[in-house]
Amino acid sequence: MLMQPQTKTEARPPADPVARRRTFAIISHPDAGKTTLTEKLLLFGGAIQLAGEVKAKRNRVSTRSDWMGIEKERGISVVTSVMTFEYGDCVFNLLDTPGHEDFSEDTYRTLTAVDSAVMVIDAAKGIEARTRKLFEVCRLRDIPIVTFVNKLDREAREPFELLDEIEKTLALDVAPITWPIGRGRNFAGTYELGGNRVRRFDAADDAGTEAVSGFQDPLFDRLLTENGEADAWREEVELAEGGLKRFDLEAFREGHLSPVFFGSALRNFGVRDLIDGLARFAPPPRGQDADKRLVEPTEPRMTGFVFKIQANMDPNHRDRIAFMRVCSGRLHRGMKARLVRTAKPISLSAPQFFFAQDRAIADEAFAGDVVGIPNHGTLRIGDTLTEGEDLVFRGVPSFAPEILRRIKLTDAMKAKKLREALQQMGEEGVVQVFVPQDGSQAIVGVVGALQLDVLKERLSAEYGLPIDYDTTRFSVCRWVSSESEVELDKFVESHGSAMAKDLDGAPVFMATTAFSLRYEEERYPAVRFTDIKDYQ
Ligand code: G4P
Repeated sequence: MLMQPQTKTEARPPADPVARRRTFAIISHPDAGKTTLTEKLLLFGGAIQLAGEVKAKRNRVSTRSDWMGIEKERGISVVTSVMTFEYGDCVFNLLDTPGHEDFSEDTYRTLTAVDSAVMVIDAAKGIEARTRKLFEVCRLRDIPIVTFVNKLDREAREPFELLDEIEKTLALDVAPITWPIGRGRNFAGTYELGGNRVRRFDAADDAGTEAVSGFQDPLFDRLLTENGEADAWREEVELAEGGLKRFDLEAFREGHLSPVFFGSALRNFGVRDLIDGLARFAPPPRGQDADKRLVEPTEPRMTGFVFKIQANMDPNHRDRIAFMRVCSGRLHRGMKARLVRTAKPISLSAPQFFFAQDRAIADEAFAGDVVGIPNHGTLRIGDTLTEGEDLVFRGVPSFAPEILRRIKLTDAMKAKKLREALQQMGEEGVVQVFVPQDGSQAIVGVVGALQLDVLKERLSAEYGLPIDYDTTRFSVCRWVSSESEVELDKFVESHGSAMAKDLDGAPVFMATTAFSLRYEEERYPAVRFTDIKDYQ
């Protein structure tokens, strides 16, 4: 059923709200300073009330991910949340990602909802494994990256060496915007390359920058007092100004070049330069690929996709929030949207914005914004909402799990309840659920083992279902498809006991070893075995 367009939303939203939005995530290796930087960025966001756009009806519900015992116990952030703040002329939507590798699926899905990313690097360590992996995910989507080299207040590697490592290991051009004046004990501030301005480390947070005559300025002799230090630094800057790439907006927006800022998140130094950089360079919401066409953010009619479901954020009320990125138009409170998967209408009666500690009802939201939609299981990861158009956004992926376990239910009477609970957990993206064709107990698949603990705890706490896990003989799985239905049927029939269906009913082949998977791939060239599946 196509819904009638709502006259109120037919008016094209002013270009401004879209141009003001900066929707980004921070990627880093654990301990590089993501949490510290997030806090400092939120500080700049100040009161975080969007004038005229949100009626802040604050309730004291914490949106921090402290809702689950397991997180508290282990001191890890399991869930992805979003924080909206305003700075200068821009509205920033910062999408937080779980720090723990076991929840990387969540992180990958979140990265489908951002327009840019800040890559935080520890100045003593350079590019670390997880930074590199997350960077590759950004690259797949051509997400522009701003680099923040953190912890300059501690012993750090040479700036040239760090920049060289970024260029070489990530194959990414770099253009430093600022340059550190000394490091570690001698860290005295940053110099804006080519800009003749200095930000002093010993100045107060908001003191701003001071003008100098260039890197020859005598100020640097006063800042770098150790023997020969100032001369060595001047040589370095001359080389940097003359020999390194200049910032180029187009190359950055295409994801080929990264502007680099140096600072110390802990000491709130360089963070203002970073946020100013994001405001100036980071792209506003971009067009999003849907199955039938590209959807431009300035289109008048609302569209969006769900990339995250979070349950029980408020332990007192069993609620389930779907996080939706608005891709176009204006979402307003009370509007009816079409849930494309079911072709049914859904009423957006209480969409929410999320701040550092609070939620507020969103009266309206624009492309780039992320709103939370409370629901009781209607919405799933990957769902598209529109004002009537039949289109589905692409690119919220599902990854073939790396660990497979069979559920062991201790109380056989609860089999039906377990099926329902697993369906919910699968839709929320907690785990992937595979129902074997031979009628045996469900198999769950995860990328990281901690996901199994989360599932077990939630089934027990929320559904009263005590479960355990059995190992299975399977260790790998792949979605299978084929141009030829006959070929696919042939494959499925001859692998009955190794076949299962995922939540959407898509066929999944489970293999005992990577070797046997390769063997089957060779035997059935007409069958495609894939390890990434777009939610549809
Ligand atoms: P993460 O989210 O990327 O894992 O990193 P997080 O911000 O938690 O920072 C990891 C550690 O590094 C913290 O210390 C934090 O205080 C410190 N840190 C972050 N930025 C800077 C910086 O610019 N300079 C210095 N010197 N340290 C920084 P911790 O001792 O592990 O934790 P805490 O007890 O201080 O919270």
